Amino acid sequence: MVTENSRKSLLERIDRRFRADFGVAEGEPRRFFAPGRINLLGAHLDYSGGDVLPMAIDRGIYAAVRRRSDGRLRLASVDQELVVDVAEDDVGLHTRPEFGWAGYGLGVWQGFRQRTGVSGGFDIVFGGDVPMASGLSSSAAIEVVTGLALDAIFETGLSRQDLAVIAHAAETGFVGLRCGIMDQFASALAQPGHVLLLHCAGPTFEHVPFDGAACEVLVMDSKKPRELAKSGFNQRVAECASALEILRTHVREHSHLAMFSIEDLLRARSVLSDVLFRRARHVVTEMRRMEAGVAALKRHDYESLGEQLTASHLSVATDYDVSCDELDELTGAADAQDATFGSRLTGAGFGGCAITLVKPGESERVAAAVRERYEARFGVTPEFDVLRIGTGPCEL
Ligand code: GLA
Repeated sequence: MVTENSRKSLLERIDRRFRADFGVAEGEPRRFFAPGRINLLGAHLDYSGGDVLPMAIDRGIYAAVRRRSDGRLRLASVDQELVVDVAEDDVGLHTRPEFGWAGYGLGVWQGFRQRTGVSGGFDIVFGGDVPMASGLSSSAAIEVVTGLALDAIFETGLSRQDLAVIAHAAETGFVGLRCGIMDQFASALAQPGHVLLLHCAGPTFEHVPFDGAACEVLVMDSKKPRELAKSGFNQRVAECASALEILRTHVREHSHLAMFSIEDLLRARSVLSDVLFRRARHVVTEMRRMEAGVAALKRHDYESLGEQLTASHLSVATDYDVSCDELDELTGAADAQDATFGSRLTGAGFGGCAITLVKPGESERVAAAVRERYEARFGVTPEFDVLRIGTGPCEL
């Protein structure tokens, strides 16, 4: 759990690293935060023009930042040796292996520069309390905190939505993951006490209250690395694009896969391969689960919301093929507990984290039961944390 103390000590480590790598001569850095996220429902719908329901959490990425005027970009992180030091004119259009994780920040700089016309460079040190590459969107949080910081130190007055768009372009254009808009929008637009209902086809959005006193969100980290995440993810994006093309040719001219109905799919059954049919079936049925889940959330019916989560997990595991034994075990073990409402993997899948919605005060007991089952099967100890809705992105 995030405490005042854990946050304070992380900020001190960031400050120490800043002083060690960049000195303090040119002025004190300013500090910013952007949250990670879980997604309650709407699995893999964002890049098919569907609706998603992410919740920004109280964990994320912090950054200490200072403006420069000599055109150098210097990026460091408390958890890594690597310091990237590059001239702003040498960054290029795509990340390079030597940039490592710093590619997210450099991609944002490129988009920010293009959008605002500023130049001069910056020093930045990152630190985070969201586990890297576990499906909680550490990369989107790095992108959003970089954008937020640049906007503040260069006084460019961009909106949160502008920052989300720049962050998303950094990930898809500069880094090269063909992700949808969910993670960057979830981080940039987060509001305390609310989840984001994002209609990705617009995009348009609304904030829906989430009652943390009626339902706890327990995250369960499988500790299984998401090795296939990038290749598998890009493959799903390509499969959805192919299914869309076929449906547009044979059924109707919708602009997004999420707009088709199950009847449309059945009409095109003979021209869709089995794999494409199953991918498309996940997308169109997940849209129905979103509708039911959002209606349940709006009437504070966490029991029904949980049922939609469990059904969503089954669909990503069978039709979309992005789950794995570890995530199925975590969600199955959680669902077997009376105190849970429902469970699913979160993020892209292929490993990483799952979430379960739990009756208030029961998370510790549920975690103990799931841990025992998981350890017995895999000989690995999963990690658990009760997530809270955070403050959203801010300057500290
Ligand atoms: C990753 C991507 C998101 C989204 C999810 C799956 O987190 O970055 O855009 O597609 O997977 O819902």
